Amino acid sequence: MKGLKQWKALRTGPLFAGEETGFVPTMGALHDGHLSLLGRARQENDLVVASVFVNPAQFNDPQDLKRYPRPVAEDIKKLEGAGTDYLLLPSAADMYPDGYTYRVTETADSRGLCGACRPGHFDGVLTVVLKLLNLVRPDRAYFGEKDYQQYRLIKGMAAAFFLDTEIVPCPTLREEDGLALSSRNLLLEPRHRELAPALNKVLRSKSSPSEIKRKLAALGFKPDYVEERWGRRFAAAKLGNVRLIDNVKI
Ligand code: PAJ
Repeated sequence: MKGLKQWKALRTGPLFAGEETGFVPTMGALHDGHLSLLGRARQENDLVVASVFVNPAQFNDPQDLKRYPRPVAEDIKKLEGAGTDYLLLPSAADMYPDGYTYRVTETADSRGLCGACRPGHFDGVLTVVLKLLNLVRPDRAYFGEKDYQQYRLIKGMAAAFFLDTEIVPCPTLREEDGLALSSRNLLLEPRHRELAPALNKVLRSKSSPSEIKRKLAALGFKPDYVEERWGRRFAAAKLGNVRLIDNVKI
């Protein structure tokens, strides 16, 4: 396939019938973490489809939505470099012809961790991912373990609704100093960028979750939670007005 093809959200039938299709949904501001998902999709499929859509429904904080980075031209170059065949680049009107009156709600695992601090966030994520999966109909869709709760909920949704897509988890890519790659890292002030790797370092220590929370606060983070579940340890904490999340296997 030569050149990246773009299309909007309108369904025109089974677009990729007969070819194994791998799909990587993103909100853009692409970094090596996203590119690692695309690389895996490239290895395992005939066609690679990506989407870039900053999904308003999953932002509980309007300021966070407003300042979310949107370097679309650079993203397109990176997608081409990663061997992406198709890019779905819809508008909010394309994705929400119903005005978000229909939505997917999960009522157990979505309520803790990030769900507790960000009301409605996972409804927005699950709804947009279901829509994207229905538009693309991929054989496999790739999600990062950096957002482990999100991955788990999407996997659960795929099973609950008998979706025909395999949900594939991919390991977290990090900077050399241990900071998990994230589009939000671009928004950190220099002094906060220096402090940010401590989140992963403290999370890996032998301390208990409550001790870790205290340590993070002492370092200058505003921790939302530090909690263990599903054999992993999770943390979310703010530096300035940038919210960082991370998780490690216990
Ligand atoms: P976004 O934050 O752009 O992330 C897109 C995908 O990249 C997600 O599956 C995320 O877990 C993965 N990812 C992000 N940082 C990563 C890292 N450092 N290493 C490995 N993978 C990483 O997550 C979303 O967008 C949205 O919620 C979305 C699923 C697209 C729905 O709107």
